[in-house]
Formats: sequence, C-alpha cells, structure tokens
Amino acid sequence: MPAAMLPYACVLVLLGARTAEVLGTAGGGRLRWEPHCQQPLPNRVPVTALLPPRLEGPWISTGCEVRPGPEFLIRSYTFFPNRLFRAYQFYYRDPLCREPAHSLLIKGKVRLRRASWVTRGATEADYHLHKVGIVFHSRRALLDVAGRLSRTQTGRDCAQRLPPARAWLPGALYELLSTRAERDCTAALGFTMHELSLVRVQSHLQPQPPTGPWLVEELYLGDIHTDRAERRHYRPTGYQRPLQSALHHAHPCPACSLIARSDEHHPPVLPGQAALPLRLGGRWVSPGCELRPAVLFLTRLFTFHGHNRSWEGYYHHFSDPACRQPTFTVYAAGHYTRGMPSTKVLGGTELVFQVTRARVTPMDQVTTAMLNFSEPNSCGGPGPWSLGTERDVTATNGCLPLGIRLPHIEYELFKMEQDPLGQSLLFIGQRPTDGSSPDTPEKRPTSYQAPLVLCDRVARDFSRPPQHRPLLQEPLGGGARCPRGALLPLLLLVLRLAFLEWL
Ligand SMILES: *[C@@H]1O[C@H](CO)[C@@H](O)[C@H](O)[C@H]1NC(C)=O
Ligand SMILES: *[C@@H]1O[C@H](CO)[C@@H](O)[C@H](O)[C@H]1NC(C)=O
Repeated sequence: MPAAMLPYACVLVLLGARTAEVLGTAGGGRLRWEPHCQQPLPNRVPVTALLPPRLEGPWISTGCEVRPGPEFLIRSYTFFPNRLFRAYQFYYRDPLCREPAHSLLIKGKVRLRRASWVTRGATEADYHLHKVGIVFHSRRALLDVAGRLSRTQTGRDCAQRLPPARAWLPGALYELLSTRAERDCTAALGFTMHELSLVRVQSHLQPQPPTGPWLVEELYLGDIHTDRAERRHYRPTGYQRPLQSALHHAHPCPACSLIARSDEHHPPVLPGQAALPLRLGGRWVSPGCELRPAVLFLTRLFTFHGHNRSWEGYYHHFSDPACRQPTFTVYAAGHYTRGMPSTKVLGGTELVFQVTRARVTPMDQVTTAMLNFSEPNSCGGPGPWSLGTERDVTATNGCLPLGIRLPHIEYELFKMEQDPLGQSLLFIGQRPTDGSSPDTPEKRPTSYQAPLVLCDRVARDFSRPPQHRPLLQEPLGGGARCPRGALLPLLLLVLRLAFLEWL
C-alpha cells in the first residue's frame, strides 16, 4: 500500500481501543480498557445497506453542515420515481445556519449505474442538470457571489446577468444554468453536483427515541474535495455526512421539520445553540463504520487527557464497509496544544497535535505478510510480525509501509456540539482529499469529519479525588450514552480505574 494512501490514519489519533479482556486481569501488566468503546455501532445496532439504493423521497440535512472553505450550508434533496430530482442548497454566513446568504435550486436527472469498484458498498451514478437557480437573501450575498464570479472572464459575463446590488430584489430567482437557454454559469461559481455520482443508502433502527424503536434511513452522497480548485474534476471516493430521510430521521430532530418545509425563498433558520467550549477530556468513539476517501474503512477511538494535554488513539482499519473484517490497527499517542478560536472557521478551535509514539497490530494475513516482507527497519525493529500481535514502531520513526512517520505534527480544527439527546459530539478536521496530511498551518482543515461521540469522561479527568466521585454519574457534558449494553462494563471500568488509581 503506498504510503500516501494512509495519511491521517496513521497520524492523528488512532484512538485507544486497547483491545481487552473485558473483565479479566490486565494482560501484559498494562492497564486495559473494557472493549465496549472500541467498535460501537457495527456490533450493536445492525446497519442495513440497500443495494441497489432506493433514492426516492425527501432527504434532508439534520443540522448545519460545514464544507471545506468553509461554507456553511443545509441540503434538502427530493428524488422522484421518474429519476428526476430537485435539490435545495441553502448557504449561510454563520456556522449555526441562522443567517441565510443565498439558496440554490437545482433540478436534474440522476441514473444509478453500478456498484462502485473503488468504494465498496457504494453505487455509482450519472447525473444531468437541467436547471440551477440562485436566490439572494441579502444585498451583501449578491455582492459576494458577483465578486466570486468576476474572477474569471466567463464569470464576468455571468455576473453581468445578475442585477446591480442596489437593484437587489428579495425573492427574485436568477438562472445560473439552464439547458434550454444553453447557459451555464455553474463552473464560474465552482459549483458541481458530483456528490450525486456516488451514493449509498443505509438504514438502522434507532433503539430508543422517545417513542420506541424507530427506523432511520440515511443517504450518503459523495465527498467534496478539500481543495476548491479541484472540486470540478474530483470524482468522489468517500462520503459527506449523510442526509436523513425526512420521513424516517433520528428523533428528536428539532431542525428536521424546519428544513423539510423550506424552499429557495424560505431558507431554514436553525434554532440558536449555545457554543460549547472544547472539553476534550475523555474517550471518544466513532458511532459507526467510517469511510475515508481513497478508500479506507475504519473506526476511531481517542482518549484525551485534558490535565496534561496528552492523547492516544486507535484506528481500527477494515476491508469492508460494515467494518467487520479487520486489516490492521494503529495506536498513536502524543501531545496537543491549548486550543485557539479559529478566525477562519467560526465556531472551530485550532490545535496542534504531535504524534510521538505509535504501535501497529496486523489483523489479517495480507497485512501480516506485507509487514513481514517490508524493508528491514522500515516498520519496527528486526523480527517477524504475527497476526494479532502489536508491535511498537516508535524506534523506527514509524512504519513506512503503512505511511506512518514519526514524529509528526498536525494542524487541527476541532469543534464540539451536543446532539438533541444531549450527547456530546466531537468533530475533528477533514483530512486533505489528496491524501497528504495537514502538517503546515496553511493545510489546516476548514471542515470536519464525521463526529465522534463521547463514550465516557476518563475518570482521571475529573478534578475531584476518585473516592468522592459518585460512580456512574452522568459524565460532564452529557456523554452517558455509551454504546448500548455497556452499562455493566462501564460500572466495572469505573470501579477498576478507581482501584488502579489508588494502587
Ligand atoms: C497524562 O495523564 C494520563 C492519565 O492521567 C496518563 O495515562 C498519561 O500517561 C499522561 N501522559 C503523559 C504523556 O504524561
Ligand atoms: C512472518 O514471518 C515469520 C518468520 O519468518 C513466519 O513464521 C510467518 O509465517 C510469517 N507470516 C506471514 C503471514 O507471512
């Protein structure tokens, strides 16, 4: 595997699923966690992928999304049985999607092609646009878009078809693309719908909304290149955050009905939300199997120790979209800096991460053999690898065959949110789509990956001494909703940590 394929994987935070005997004695003399945090969703809430995907129906964002740039937007797409679709993209000035800037109305046709050979579990599709219209919700938004268009010659022609700012009319729709008029200003604006060329529909039962088990359907569409200049050419190999069916979305979702009711003249204005300060302390896990462009399936588990600003992480890699067939696991650890509010991505916090230590565990024959045959001293010291056995690769400055280089620095963007159930979510910066790592301040992400959920606040991050800590208290920041069925192990874990602390 070329090094470039595993950029971040190896870098930030493969988080800490110290694979463990649940309640047994700590193996090898090392402290071990109970494993309930390490592979949350795949083992617990079964996810069903619909193949071929059924697109029909209304699909909506469940909150404000951030695209590289940054761009803040909300999507609401409807697919009709005759393959036609109508998509709204609502753009905002602010990261909470409260100040609409402009809205796009996009109409066209989409045709599913075949199962993707590149991205297992995805279906490739072709699309055609018939019409793209834009509505400006303020004079300033009109000026912004006209300014963006004016950077190229074709764009300037397009900008001339927009009214001068003083003639801005609320509610007027301007055509950016019309097949009938043979006009296309979308390129000048950097707009594409390539996200429609890779689709996946997934459903699962939400175990415990207020009303009992509930079907949730998700539509995954292709990812957006992190480099704006590449967007028009890039064919997605990963996904964005999924849209949810407007009829079968997770509950509660205060934004959903607002979004489902909106149109280009009435963009949703989301309810205000108190900004959450970044409190990293604790363990954070992927709520499901994640896909990285280029193409990796993985789950992540990170532990941040707020008091000494150190972190450790495990990345569990898999060869399949359900994250059932493990290939290898990387453990990485290091330090991070104090966070600074981002001036570029409002609502985000900038940090710098250092990776100073790493360990690798091959989990299948192919990876074991590959490591076995790697150049001497390119990945761990001398000696053979064996399946399932973890080896430290710090002394060889990482593991070249897996693209892990140590020491390593990453410029990061983080954000915390609370979902409507009060569960804490941690958003970590999107990795550059070209497979490089954000190792300079200029490459710092401007958008986020799928969020991790707080599994529990690590006991040691509580400032009170452990013996005064009520066991099983609601973790600060509300993260109690560990993967289901985890209550007993959690109790034992807390007991055990408390015990170990006092050894
Ligand atoms: C930071 O603190 C945690 C727990 O309190 C400990 O496990 C870890 O080793 C410390 N890290 C460093 C680098 O000192
Ligand atoms: C790795 O190398 C060791 C020793 O050379 C050998 O016993 C083992 O079978 C090899 N494993 C794989 C998967 O190639």
